[in-house]
Amino acid sequence: MCGIVAYIGPKDATPFLLEGLARLEYRGYDSAGVAVAGRTGGLKVRKVKGRVADLAAAVPARFKGATGIGHTRWATHGVPSDANAHPHLDNAERIAVVHNGIIENADELRAKLAADGAVFRSETDTEVLGHLIAAHAAEGVELEEAVRAALGKVVGTYGIAVLDAEQPDRIVVARNGSPIVLGIGEKEMFVASDVSALVRYTRQVVHLEDGELATVRSDGFRTFTEDARTTHRQPSTVDWEIDSYDTGGYEHFLLKEIHEQPGSVERTLGGRLDERFATAHLGGLNLDARELREIRRVKILGCGSAYYAGEMGAQLIEELARIPAHSEPASEFRYRNPVIEADTLYIAVSQSGETYDTLAAVQEVKRKGGRVLGVVNTVGSAIARECDGGIYLHAGPEISVASTKAFTSTVVAFALIALHFGRIHDLSPADGRRIVSALKALPDQIREVLAQSDAIAELAAEYAGSEGMMFIGRVRGYPVAREGAQKLKEISYVHAEAYPASELKHGPLALISPELPTIALVPDDELLDKNLTTLGEIKARSGRVLAVAHRRPEAKLADHCVLVPKSEPELDPLLLNIPLQLLAYHAAVALGRDVDKPRNLAKSVTVE
Ligand code: F6R
Repeated sequence: MCGIVAYIGPKDATPFLLEGLARLEYRGYDSAGVAVAGRTGGLKVRKVKGRVADLAAAVPARFKGATGIGHTRWATHGVPSDANAHPHLDNAERIAVVHNGIIENADELRAKLAADGAVFRSETDTEVLGHLIAAHAAEGVELEEAVRAALGKVVGTYGIAVLDAEQPDRIVVARNGSPIVLGIGEKEMFVASDVSALVRYTRQVVHLEDGELATVRSDGFRTFTEDARTTHRQPSTVDWEIDSYDTGGYEHFLLKEIHEQPGSVERTLGGRLDERFATAHLGGLNLDARELREIRRVKILGCGSAYYAGEMGAQLIEELARIPAHSEPASEFRYRNPVIEADTLYIAVSQSGETYDTLAAVQEVKRKGGRVLGVVNTVGSAIARECDGGIYLHAGPEISVASTKAFTSTVVAFALIALHFGRIHDLSPADGRRIVSALKALPDQIREVLAQSDAIAELAAEYAGSEGMMFIGRVRGYPVAREGAQKLKEISYVHAEAYPASELKHGPLALISPELPTIALVPDDELLDKNLTTLGEIKARSGRVLAVAHRRPEAKLADHCVLVPKSEPELDPLLLNIPLQLLAYHAAVALGRDVDKPRNLAKSVTVE
């Protein structure tokens, strides 16, 4: 969601703050701000509506200080504006706060603080924190004590960094539901809500736990709990490559991440295929064969693309392991008082590992005694820590807001889970071998699809001007259609509908016209004839068809075709999805969209 950075050390904080914010901009990009404790006392603050580049342009050369905090925002309370941008200050402009999350009792706190004389200058929930901390920061009180006392009155989620003009030798940070990472340097310390802002400066990091605070000074840090007990945290080393945080010569992160998929799929598979027994090694599941055999159902929970990847996962598990499996949006599940069954295995899916709805769904399952595994990309993230076991994707950092490589790796992870479960149930060694070889072939097959990027760009330019697009697929193809439609609308803003091809004649056929082309998934499987019949029905209504297929349909059935290499039928959806990523990307470019930072969105949704 929003991004936080902070610095304390011998250097000027401002260059790190601005660079760190630019790195975190994918997390929120409607406004940004910085505050530094000036060398001559007092705070200097700049905040603007707009991008980090607008903030950098607004920061004068004399804006210097050895201690500073910064923020890039994705608006929840109050419109994007200079006034609503963080940091937020108290009346005396002594305390500055940056915050990710939601203060649920902000209205109540605001009323009390206003009655005591606080003057509010923004519509944000965060502003109450500045006033509340200031109210506790009486003469002689250490900043950490004031922050601790203030947070004791707060209901909600937060990651915060606090700067005090009168105690510029420290920054106090706290985490409850929104990540805070400390970066350890040489006689300097960094803070960020995400390691991507830190990796250029240090690889030694400490992830705060929920309910933990830290006092950060230039020569180190002290962590403690909300009831002031000191905690002992060992730093860990960030192992993702620095290159992952650059566009590496590609025009956009999205294009780079689409092209990284052969490598990211190899990493997801790395060391997990067991050719001898034609199965997958998944030690992190923490479930032995006997426990796995007792599972009667699988319920997959995720949001957005993670939910669609879960739909593909559910099909893989049903097909290979013959265990009933179903994917549901975590954002719905958590609100419907779900029945939690002892013999159901719950699997939470999340690239970021931070999505609040998914985390809340996991917590609800666990509260009712259910067992939850995680399929997560970000190591050590909140969802990964909350689960009883799981699989890390190792897809590498995904910076572009739209998920591509993490989506593909999630489906690969489900193929491994399905293979493992299947071989414990009734999947034969021969079928296990069939899936193992197909998984090994995927990276090269993805390369074959990526080689068609230019041709897909031409098609995208032709189709991008349409009034909308219909995506259709049958059974295995339907989640592909849903993900394809999602990708197109989120980055190109072209309206897209996804339908099971079988459902077209039950209503949406009425929409078909030359202005609303259909992107049809036409794998060469047992449903090929049915899919070709559907294409005929569309063409009979003057619809335009772009087929994504293993074999080119007759010219009278499709206007254009992208050919995809054939895998095993269970794994075909994974490859059929790659041209749709390229189609969405090139359509967005053709329409001049801000591909990596689409409007109204942010990379991870850590609020309700
Ligand atoms: C789509 C997209 C979102 C995310 C969703 C879940 O391209 O990026 O739909 O997939 O917000 O995010 P994670 O996987 O981080 O839980």
